[in-house]
Amino acid sequence: MRALIMAGFAGVACVMAASALASSPVDDAVTDRKAIFKNMGKPFKELHGIAPGDIAAKRATVVADAQLIKSLANQPWTKFGPETAKTTVKTEALAVIWTDAAGFRAAQTKFIGAVNALDAVAANGAPDVVAQKIADVGASCGGCHKVYRAK
Ligand code: HEC
Repeated sequence: MRALIMAGFAGVACVMAASALASSPVDDAVTDRKAIFKNMGKPFKELHGIAPGDIAAKRATVVADAQLIKSLANQPWTKFGPETAKTTVKTEALAVIWTDAAGFRAAQTKFIGAVNALDAVAANGAPDVVAQKIADVGASCGGCHKVYRAK
């Protein structure tokens, strides 16, 4: 009898744990976009830390980081549906993303253009040109964050 009651409690505990873990598609979208940005942050930080004078010596790193950012650059934006404004996940997305959707899209386009331009010169561009493209990417990240992301 006692074992049965214990087993019953364990069963209830399992169901509760499962429902606590199950998240909504809206929350998943927010969690996903944050993870994508985080994955973009790492290579960008590395690129940003390379002095122009070191670019020639660190060419392989520059190329790999540029490619990684490029591979992620298109991914976050489908995860900003208006329904995600009501997420229960902690988010830094500002409401202006949805009231100024055209501006948010323009910031994405600018960013993707800067990433492609960096990728195009990463392998063979002169170090000062590569440094400028890295700075342009950084400006496009920052330009969007300034308006659409909470500090
Ligand atoms: C078009 C707008 C836009 C561009 C471009 C952009 N971001 Fe963001 N970023 C956001 C928004 C909005 C958030 C907040 C997301 C949230 O919390 O739901 C964010 C969040 C982040 C975060 C925090 C993720 C977390 O764990 O909460 C990092 C890191 C980040 N961005 C890095 C970058 C880097 C690096 C670049 C450029 C290489 C970049 N972002 C380009 C809009 C942008």
